[in-house]
Amino acid sequence: MSKVFQLRVEDGIGVVTFDVAGDAMNTWTEAAFASFDELMGELEKEKTLKGIIFISGKPDNFFAGANLKMIADIETPSEVRGVLELFHGAFRKLKNLNLPILAAIHGHCLGGGLEFALACTARIAKEGKTTLIGLPECNVGLFPGGGGTQRLPRLIGYPAIELILKGTMLPAAKAFELGIVDRLIPGDADLLGSAKAFIGEMIAGTAELKRTEHDFSKLDEIAEMARQGVLKATRGRALPAPMLALKSIQEGLKVSLAEGLEIEKANFVEVVMAKESKGSINTFFIKTLTDKPKAMMTKGFVPKPLKKAAVLGFGTMGRGIVIDIIRNMQVPVVVKDIPEALEPGKAFVRKILDGMAEKKRLKGTVDDYMKLITTTTEYGTEFKDVDIVVEAVFEDLKIKQQVYQELCRVIPGDCLVASNTSSLSIKSMAGLLTNPERFGGLHFFSPVWLMQLVEVIRGDQTSQETVDNLLNFAAAIKKRPIVCRDNAGFVVNALLFPMLLETFKYIEEGNAIEKVDQAMTSFGMPVGPIRLTDEVGIDVVYKIFKGMEIRQETLYGVVEAGRMGLKKSGKGFFLKDGSVDPEVLPLIAKKGVKELTMEQIQEGLLEAMVKTGKDLLDRKIVEDVRMIDVGMVWGVGFPTDKGGPMKWADLTGMSQRLFGKNFY
Ligand code: NAI
Repeated sequence: MSKVFQLRVEDGIGVVTFDVAGDAMNTWTEAAFASFDELMGELEKEKTLKGIIFISGKPDNFFAGANLKMIADIETPSEVRGVLELFHGAFRKLKNLNLPILAAIHGHCLGGGLEFALACTARIAKEGKTTLIGLPECNVGLFPGGGGTQRLPRLIGYPAIELILKGTMLPAAKAFELGIVDRLIPGDADLLGSAKAFIGEMIAGTAELKRTEHDFSKLDEIAEMARQGVLKATRGRALPAPMLALKSIQEGLKVSLAEGLEIEKANFVEVVMAKESKGSINTFFIKTLTDKPKAMMTKGFVPKPLKKAAVLGFGTMGRGIVIDIIRNMQVPVVVKDIPEALEPGKAFVRKILDGMAEKKRLKGTVDDYMKLITTTTEYGTEFKDVDIVVEAVFEDLKIKQQVYQELCRVIPGDCLVASNTSSLSIKSMAGLLTNPERFGGLHFFSPVWLMQLVEVIRGDQTSQETVDNLLNFAAAIKKRPIVCRDNAGFVVNALLFPMLLETFKYIEEGNAIEKVDQAMTSFGMPVGPIRLTDEVGIDVVYKIFKGMEIRQETLYGVVEAGRMGLKKSGKGFFLKDGSVDPEVLPLIAKKGVKELTMEQIQEGLLEAMVKTGKDLLDRKIVEDVRMIDVGMVWGVGFPTDKGGPMKWADLTGMSQRLFGKNFY
């Protein structure tokens, strides 16, 4: 295997190029550390060197950080210590060379990559789109454990705290402004040439390096403010990564660098051993897996070009789908609905686009985008050249059947057709289409333009080509897709509804609504299950249970009393001030008393989801467990630090307890 670090000596300067062969990004793999060790041996022998430059051999990255796979595989504290020693040992050796060392940065310089650069004497960076500099570890449930929490604040002062806690990635100019980088060169400059000139100045003692002794006398106050900021962002949850990062900074800056590094190491062992780091790393992996939907298509597949789209129904969902098509694909869209629905639909789309334009999230003008929409009440000639139709009409099989029959008379035979149904089977509609192999499901989440997830549903007759083309469409409208087979509730609602059913059982057994909701928000869900029911529409949830042949007594009683939800009918489970409406309490169908602790509620509700997930895998509704976790994280906001319900069940031992094995 070729060496990661290659040394050549030019005019008394050691120029070290590094390149982790076979990977798009340089990361600190075991091979990289081994090669670094060898390099140190070579450098120690070079007695005449005056300075060293480290520069990446990759076109667009310096070092993207530690290898997350390596960290995810760690099982014991001593293994964590082993990995830490790799970093700290390497950086110690670097320092012991007692030479000016310059990191020459272009492209990503992140996490363990920036920690490496911080262990050098100085840094030069070339501006560029891919040049991002920062310590993003907190975003994957970790924190900088290779000296980052100690060296960055000592270099730039208090601003380091926020950068570390938020995991901010800075463009080169900003990193220069903050003092992380000592010299900035433009994107078209010669990095190695500039680095040689800079190290020449460093050797001659003429380079001015700003190395301020920062005053940390207000550290406790500032750290407390930062802690409050974190707790606000996590809605009160003291997650291990930011809390231990803060602890390392707060305690480490009061002692020497060497002692601070020891504090950081002890906390890093704790953070890696926390389940939340494993959950967060899983979220990172499943995000990467679905970031590029085209990579989920059959290898070598050439998708059908999508030059014109149609959306049937200009209601809640249709509007959202139109917004995503025009702003991301910039192709004409025909929208069909009844006359009264057309103007309100367009006005709504314009309102949302106006908001996006205000935030500078649109490339063109709102008028340009609006011109792409043609509204109609008939299946006329506008449909003759459409490439894809998304149907979002009322959730009524008879209406949908009629829509498909009429539609098929006007669209081309190879036009893709997808239904956004949430509860009807693809099978029940497929038979009404000519060429049913071009038909599948695209189940979006509301509000469409904000929710990343879409479920791509493969009906019995849906061809692989159609699934691939729908994945291509998902990519074009910037959605994160999961593919599943036809199933009541597909994936996300299939897991959500047993959980809701269990929730109502708990309140019927005497557990307070507030307590059940709070159990789940402190677990990390964005809203509690009862509030979710209230927001979605209590009648909607009731009807879905009814469709599953379940009569949920409490929901029945609440709906019968005319309470469809606070937003929908002005009355539901909650009052405007957020408290539970006392009028709803007598409507709860009491079923004995079984008071549960918050932990029991969390565990019981997770169990309801996980058992359904197992059933989906057994029935091959989904082939890959990761798709379930993607669905729950991006479809309902399952906490990212838990990695999805199936991963969390593995991490907490629930999978072993229930099924005798892990899913991952
Ligand atoms: P909606 O009631 O807001 O809009 C439906 C629209 O379809 C109305 O504007 C109606 O005039 C129109 N429509 C009815 N018959 C039509 C026909 N024959 N031709 C053309 N347009 C017709 O309903 P919503 O919420 O947008 O739901 C649409 C579909 O999306 C349903 O299948 C629903 O199950 C599904 N869905 C809804 C979600 C939600 O959160 N609302 C989430 C995911 C899917």
